[in-house]
Amino acid sequence: MLIKDSVGLDITAPSQEAVSAHDDLVVCVLSHSRAAPQMMARLFEADPQSVMGWAIKCFSALMLARSELAGPARAAALEARKSFAERGGTRREGYYVRAAMLASHGQWTRALELIELVVSETPEDSLAAKLSHGLRFMIGDSKGMRRSIESVVSRIGSDHPYLGYMYGCQSFVLEEAGEYVAAERVGRKAMMLAPQDAWGLHAVSHVYEMTGNAAAGIQWLETRKASYAHCNNFSYHLFWHLALYRLELGDTAGVLDLYDEQIRNVESDDFRDIANAASLLTRLELDGVNVGRRWDEIADIAERRVADGSLVFADLHYLLALIGAGRDQAAHLLSAHLGTDGERSVEQGRVAAAVGAGMSDALLAFKNMQFGEAAETMTRLRPDLLRIGGSHAQRDVFEQIRLEAVIRSGQLDQAEDMLLDRLAARGGSNAFAAKRLARLKRSGTRNERVGVLATALMAPQTL
Ligand SMILES: [Fe+2]
Repeated sequence: MLIKDSVGLDITAPSQEAVSAHDDLVVCVLSHSRAAPQMMARLFEADPQSVMGWAIKCFSALMLARSELAGPARAAALEARKSFAERGGTRREGYYVRAAMLASHGQWTRALELIELVVSETPEDSLAAKLSHGLRFMIGDSKGMRRSIESVVSRIGSDHPYLGYMYGCQSFVLEEAGEYVAAERVGRKAMMLAPQDAWGLHAVSHVYEMTGNAAAGIQWLETRKASYAHCNNFSYHLFWHLALYRLELGDTAGVLDLYDEQIRNVESDDFRDIANAASLLTRLELDGVNVGRRWDEIADIAERRVADGSLVFADLHYLLALIGAGRDQAAHLLSAHLGTDGERSVEQGRVAAAVGAGMSDALLAFKNMQFGEAAETMTRLRPDLLRIGGSHAQRDVFEQIRLEAVIRSGQLDQAEDMLLDRLAARGGSNAFAAKRLARLKRSGTRNERVGVLATALMAPQTL
């Protein structure tokens, strides 16, 4: 029978209890809650045939981007389709079934067309809005993310129960578009309406990262731990942001403490957790920090994924881990896999061919001290890097390697220009650029403009 859910949309379900479980699961998804698996179990207990439950299960597996979960994702999509065929369902549920089937066969773009039909016809469906946001984030479709969430926010009422979470998504797209003032304003509004909105909290964290405001970022995250205490491993990513601020302020001991106690304090092989770790260790090493044996445990995981091929973003971070740990053979194997179609979906195969393979060559070239080659390749691929997905802040690790390659290859004039651009883009406050400009100054190759600016920007605590 049809029962209304918490936003007034029809759900096919045998009981109110099943709909309540569905509603609770949606809130878990919106808030990145670690209670999601229990809520899903509750939903299947109340309704083993829940189309929405199976669709959510399918997308949850796919978003973990691991080849061994491709089968379970397909199985979940098939269960959704079977249930829909057996007991019928709404047009909206039909869209979810088709989207899950397509996505489970690697056709994320076509799946998104279906999800977007849900968003378009029923903007009240915050699960669809969040799915569109999350999937587009993974495939680097920032324009689509913006288009989708802005259409939602403009059409749902001010009394919509999940408006805060939708503002959180809007804040993030504004931040990625460089509209930092608006992003912070909307993100704070999100947190007012939905204090558990870790994604809105995260969006504002990105604003402080991209505008070089580390002190404000630390204050923001340190004083709002209650807003992410309920989170799943997304909380590790928020601690990663906190670590970036500490790195910006030159507190490398604090960064390593966060790494050991909050970012890698539990064994996790989620690619997003490996990405946090590999990215942070790379940034520390670029700063000349000895990270000890920390590479080893993430390289062990990366080594098992050399042929995984689920997501180029993940592969490039696995490669950082393998390079960091000195696992040359595995690093070359992973790079070789990026250069072939292998088991990849057609869509990720295109990303690998367009940018992943070249980036892996460049990272290996950097490791082998072929800095000119690394710099040339990464500069050529820079406009396409968005296609690997993730945020500006996440992809910045590759930009930092590129800039270091330009310097180490002796192209000092270009390096100065690039570092000055970076500094200007971050409100004149960026330790990575300031340190390197100072290095160039000390080498005697800088011109007067660079020297004066670098001196002015070298705050004592950052060097
Ligand atoms: Fe982030």
